[in-house]
Amino acid sequence: MKDKILELLKESADYVSGQDICNRFGVSRTAVWKNIKALKEEGYQIDSVNNKGYKLLAEPDVIDEMRIREFLHTKWLGQNIIYEEEMDSSNIQAKRLGEHDAPNGTVVVTEKQTAGRGRRGRTWVSPKGNCYFSILLRPEVLVDRASIITLVSALALAKAIKEVTDLDTMIKWPNDVIANGKKLCGILTESSTDLEYINYVVVGIGINTNQTEFPEEITDMASSIRLECGEKINRGKLLGTFLTLFEQYYERFLETEDMSTLEEEYNGLLVNRGKEVKIIEKEKERVLKAIGIDKKGGLVVEDEKGNRETIISGEVSVRGLYGYV
Ligand code: BTN
Repeated sequence: MKDKILELLKESADYVSGQDICNRFGVSRTAVWKNIKALKEEGYQIDSVNNKGYKLLAEPDVIDEMRIREFLHTKWLGQNIIYEEEMDSSNIQAKRLGEHDAPNGTVVVTEKQTAGRGRRGRTWVSPKGNCYFSILLRPEVLVDRASIITLVSALALAKAIKEVTDLDTMIKWPNDVIANGKKLCGILTESSTDLEYINYVVVGIGINTNQTEFPEEITDMASSIRLECGEKINRGKLLGTFLTLFEQYYERFLETEDMSTLEEEYNGLLVNRGKEVKIIEKEKERVLKAIGIDKKGGLVVEDEKGNRETIISGEVSVRGLYGYV
């Protein structure tokens, strides 16, 4: 009943009288009042005026299942959405589900993480206001192809941000989505594999969405979509749009099990394409020109003599000559 009343209030530009609600749904005035009270407790701002009725003024700022579904147009991704206001880490939760029977395409979403994890064992500080979510996938592809899904995610993220906010972003290989030289999103892909078989892959994504302040030590490197485009972002729309695009890109990846049909689009967004970058390996640092990714998602680089080699993600870091990008 609560959802039906909410739906009605959303559809109505003006006040809806209590009597109209009673007549439409065949419930008592007390039932209407109780449901309105419950909605208010959930964070909906509803104006109640004698002789006029109820008007929805604002929705709560959450990214629960209902708000994502409004913008979700997928065949299989996100059929199962697990939402909790707070979690240790959506990746940890998704991996727990992966060990059990959770279906391919399960999405785990939260408002805040207490043990958010980044790449290379770093912490991903996760205050309220951003998007933190993980996708559980069970791809039937070769084990060494799982890391390509990270690149597919970065591409879908860049596209979703453009579609929802009109902000142009670029990708810093392999998977950081950046705007104006600052990182907006991070992706942590983790897999559980047997020798030749992928049990599951978890793609965990953190999008700095509505955060307006960053610790001083990272202000040169990190930003949020809100700071870059000057507007508060509808996170449900961003997530729903991302998941919709991700399903399409991921299905293209599954067709070939590589980036062959996505390579060109990805390279078009590659921030360092054609520029010199620092390749940082365990004990050495080299400066080489970034050419673009290959079908397997490796970064092709070239030395001054024109000799080319492919850098594999996870083994090295790539930096711009003068900083993070
Ligand atoms: C990076 O270091 O760039 C990757 C950061 C990935 C953070 C996301 S937030 C949602 C998911 N849950 C986690 O604990 N980490 C990922």
